[in-house]
Formats: sequence, structure tokens, C-alpha cells
Amino acid sequence: MLQFTSATRAEDGSTVTLGWATGETARFHAIWLRDNAQDAETRDPGNGQRLIALRDIPVDTTVSDVSAEGAQLSITFAPENKTVTFDAAWLLGHRYDVGGKTQSGWTADTVETWDSDLMTGIPVGDFSAVSKDRDALKDWLFGVRRYGFGKLVNGPIEEGALTKVVDLFGYVRETNYGKFFEVRTEVNPTNLAYTGLGLQAHTDNPYRDPVPTVQVLYCLENSAEGGENMVVDGFRCAEVLRTENPRGFELLSKYCARFEYAGGDGVCLRSRRPMIELAPDGEMIGVRFNNRSSAPIVDVPFDDMADYYAAYRRLGEIIDDPAMEVTFKLSPGESFIVDNTRVLHARKGYSGEGSRWLQGCYADKDGLNSTLAAMELQSAEAAQ
Ligand code: FE2
Repeated sequence: MLQFTSATRAEDGSTVTLGWATGETARFHAIWLRDNAQDAETRDPGNGQRLIALRDIPVDTTVSDVSAEGAQLSITFAPENKTVTFDAAWLLGHRYDVGGKTQSGWTADTVETWDSDLMTGIPVGDFSAVSKDRDALKDWLFGVRRYGFGKLVNGPIEEGALTKVVDLFGYVRETNYGKFFEVRTEVNPTNLAYTGLGLQAHTDNPYRDPVPTVQVLYCLENSAEGGENMVVDGFRCAEVLRTENPRGFELLSKYCARFEYAGGDGVCLRSRRPMIELAPDGEMIGVRFNNRSSAPIVDVPFDDMADYYAAYRRLGEIIDDPAMEVTFKLSPGESFIVDNTRVLHARKGYSGEGSRWLQGCYADKDGLNSTLAAMELQSAEAAQ
């Protein structure tokens, strides 16, 4: 069990400095430690929810005494004269004295960006295995969280089967397109309108706020020539742009684009969000790219508009670069899932005899991440 090696308090009691047997050290503020006390008066032992608000903690809270013994830290807070204990591993895992991220557009540890090299490492799950076996589901969801994309094979060939994919981790998000929608074009060589033109890689429904964060596309028929699906990692494309043109990256993340869909009766969806979305601390958290749904961009200052358009054009070229794409052809009963805030999808053109019928639906990433995190927690507890 992880042990402490040292625990000292600042003279004024505002902070403590801890050392662990791993060689790491970190400082903590008295108010942070008091707020995160794990005792039964601070947190409900059952559900772990906090029972007090910050206003219940004195503003002049300091550490009056601290001592470490083995894996346990004992801290007394003044003026409450309250003593609580902390676990060494818990504090090491929650330390924040680690220096800030300096690069704009950094990505979370759970994320790995990719290009066409992922072709050999696509997370593929077997439908019946992930439906019955929790470890198989956990492995597949882990890959989907990591790459923002995954395939499922050997699923049932029946209408609506795509909702069973969503049932594995969450809930269908119903929209004005229904619970799910048809992506179907009967191929008719005599009609050029139905030759199945390719679609540029895009994220779906950028005109919604919030966007659907997960999309599932499920194949029921695919006997036409061509019609491959293609996915591109929007995060990797943004990273490439950042390397080539840091100012262009900054412009696409700093200013909002606009998206709109007003195609149906009673529907007028509009959003105002950047093409590359960053959290306040610079974490890359979303990419929106969809030429068909772009509305006039009016939130970029006149002096920056020419450079903004140059960056927008270049991002599109990077997205279109075959070196960035992973291509695959779905067979009936196969499906794929994308993180619609990150991974763009496209369809290659198709023609000839036969038919192509996919069904699509939306769901949300919070359910997927929650299902995976709960399984990971369970595995970690079982390993202890
Ligand atoms: Fe789409």
C-alpha cells in the first residue's frame, strides 16, 4: 500500500506539503483539503454526495496540525478543531500541484488522435459478444472513447437494430428526424440524381446546441459498388493545422462559426459555436465541420476574416487528405459509432446495380462514458 514519506504544514497553516514513497511531492491548500474531507459529516457515506456547502466551512480555515503515518494522513483544521484522515493513494491521485498544460489544444489522457494508420487498429466488437460479455463491452467502449470511433460486426439484419447498439451504453436521442432515420438510395443507373454522390467528411447536426454527441450508422443492405464509409479524426486534423499554422488554429477556435438548418415545417435550428472548440484551459473538446449546414459567418472581425477563411480552407484540405482517412465498407449487420464532437464521417460515391440501406440514430457520450467508467471502477475495486 502506498505510504507517505513526509507531511509538513506552512507556518501560517494555509497549505501542507506532502511526500509519497513514489518520490512525488505536492502542495495542498487548507481550504481544498477541508472541502474534500471524506468524513461522514462532510460526505454521505452511502452515495458519496457532499452534505455541506462551501458556506458551511469557515473562510479563515487553516491546518493547525498534520501528521502522516504509513498510508494515512491526519489533519486538524482550525477554527473548527476538526480532525479528518486522508488516504495516501487518494491524495496522490487528486493532487493538483502539477503545473499547467501549456499547449493550446491539448487532449485528455483517455484520447489518442489518429490518421489512416488506425486502419489496422480499428476497435471492432462482435455484436453478440458485447451484448453478453461485460469484458468484451468494456474493451470495445474503451476503444470508442480512445479513438472516438468503433465498429460492431455480426449484428442482426433487421430494421431498428441500431437502437440495440445504443442500448449497450445509453439512450437514443430523438430529434426532428425521428428516433432513427433512413440513409437509403435505390441505385438506378438511369437516374443520375441517384448515382450516390460522395459526401465530404462532416460532423452531423452542428446546428444543434448541444449537438448529438454520438452517432450510430447501421447497415442493412450494401450490394452496390462503392459506398464505402470513411471516418476522419477531427482532433488530429486540428493538430495538423496547429502545427502548420498556429494563428489559423487560434482563429478557428477563438471565433464562432454559425450553422443552420431550416429545412422542414416548424424547424429552424441555429447554433453559434467555433469549428475547433477549446475548454477555457485550452483542452480540445470539440470539432464542428459541415459545409452543407454552414451559415454566414458574422462573428469574425473584418481584420481577421481573410486569415480565418484561409484557415477554414486549410482545415478542409487536411480533412480531405486521404492520409487522414480510415475507409471501410459495411456489410449487412455491421455498424459503426462515432463521437460526433470529434470524428467526421463521409460516404464515398457509389453506383451500379444493387442497393444501399443504412439506418442512423443519435445518442450521447455521457451515457457511453458513464457505462465505461462504472465498469472500470468495478474492475478496479475487484482487483483490490
Ligand atoms: Fe452525416
